[in-house]
Amino acid sequence: PRVGVVCGGPSAEAEVSRVSGRGVAEALRATYEDVVVLELEPSISGRLQEERVDVVFPVLHGPPGEDGCFQGLLEILGLPYVGSGVLASACAMDKVTAKRLFRASGLPVAREVVVAPAERPAEAAERVRAELGADVVVKPARQGSAVGVGFGHDGTLEEALAQALHFGDAVLVEERVRGKEITVAVLERDDRVEALPVIEIRTPPGSWYDYPHRYTPGWSEHVIPAPLPEATYARTQEVACLAHQALGCRDLSRVDFVVPDSGEPVLLEVNTIPGMTPTSLYPDAARAAGISFEQLVAHLVERALA
Ligand code: DAL
Ligand code: MG
Repeated sequence: PRVGVVCGGPSAEAEVSRVSGRGVAEALRATYEDVVVLELEPSISGRLQEERVDVVFPVLHGPPGEDGCFQGLLEILGLPYVGSGVLASACAMDKVTAKRLFRASGLPVAREVVVAPAERPAEAAERVRAELGADVVVKPARQGSAVGVGFGHDGTLEEALAQALHFGDAVLVEERVRGKEITVAVLERDDRVEALPVIEIRTPPGSWYDYPHRYTPGWSEHVIPAPLPEATYARTQEVACLAHQALGCRDLSRVDFVVPDSGEPVLLEVNTIPGMTPTSLYPDAARAAGISFEQLVAHLVERALA
């Protein structure tokens, strides 16, 4: 089969996606002779047909590649593809919607305030302070890689809200939970939804896992397996699988948490097309489970073709 890897596009994470895409294509060539890399642009449906692609591996981060729009196009074209379908992709990309579904499934999440796209930062800040206090995390509802994320401290809350509202969608404001940054890669094999080894993400004191710390080699450390008490480790894996299923995800996802020193892991979000760059988490989790990057991407394409 001819495999089409699609990356790039108009999102704020396009460059990350191109790096992920090149890596995925190169790894696929270990198994498939015929791999073509295509940019997500308005002509993409014609390009997929001209190139006689049989199966698509969307390596797209952020809207409109990770949020179900591109998946909808592939459904119309009748092309099989790797990863989550339209509904799961749309629900996972929207942090506000995803959280409603997590809560409905009884999964542990932080308290939040949702700010509407048209709300004024000053008024929203007042509401946030009244309901959550000022120690909060401010996130655009539909971005990834920490793009547009800010923290509210005294005096900076309005600024953080203005920055997040700039993306034009709702803004999710959550109480700031302090603890270990933890992520769990979820992989479907046969009929099982499996959690791979848990990773703790460490960044130097005083920094956080922002865009530069995600993608600059050496700026973050992936500790695998994460040094958590046994029961907590097992619980993050359990919640990761439940979150994947709560959104109806398919094939793979990466589920992010904060784990306080004592208490339940707090579920943050599900990424349906996790980063696949040289500094990304998902490939490291797979390797820790004994799955090489080449095996991982070939397995995913096999599932799409099955
Ligand atoms: N959104 C980035 C690519 C990630 O989840 O890894
Ligand atoms: Mg994300």
